[in-house]
Amino acid sequence: MVCLGNICRSPLAEGIMKAKLDKYNLPYTVDSAGTGNWHEGETPDHRSVKIALENGVDISSQRARGFKSDDFDRFDHIYVMDKSNLSTLKERTSEASHHAKIRLIMDAKHKTGKEVPDPYYGNLNDFRDVYSMLDEICEEIALDFVEKSRKS
Ligand code: 4NP
Repeated sequence: MVCLGNICRSPLAEGIMKAKLDKYNLPYTVDSAGTGNWHEGETPDHRSVKIALENGVDISSQRARGFKSDDFDRFDHIYVMDKSNLSTLKERTSEASHHAKIRLIMDAKHKTGKEVPDPYYGNLNDFRDVYSMLDEICEEIALDFVEKSRKS
């Protein structure tokens, strides 16, 4: 799960996805990072922590980090929040196999071209909107994984 700062959106995506993996008993790992590393080592934005807790998800032990080049190999799927994250990551690698892993998270089920808007300069309701977008798409992603594990 990748956004710009790894303090607002991608920590929520990580926490929500972990909760879905638990819910469906899926044996996968999930992590998050920012295309930028200015917030390295920081806890998530207090508004993300609060909104997650409102929904029973505790993200307070996460620490921000920058996306590293070996992440392209370490993960099978790289979900980004917006088109700027998408182009930044694509510029960092020329390998087609890496490019194939990166996509907008809101395109995970159907190609919508939608972005998860950056709530950093917004208010709590903007964080709530981000939460509900991510909750909906992470549910879809998890259900796809359930489906795939049934077939294999
Ligand atoms: P995020 O939000 O990418 O969802 O973590 C942001 C957090 C911090 C900044 C920008 C976006 N910043 O400019 O510091």
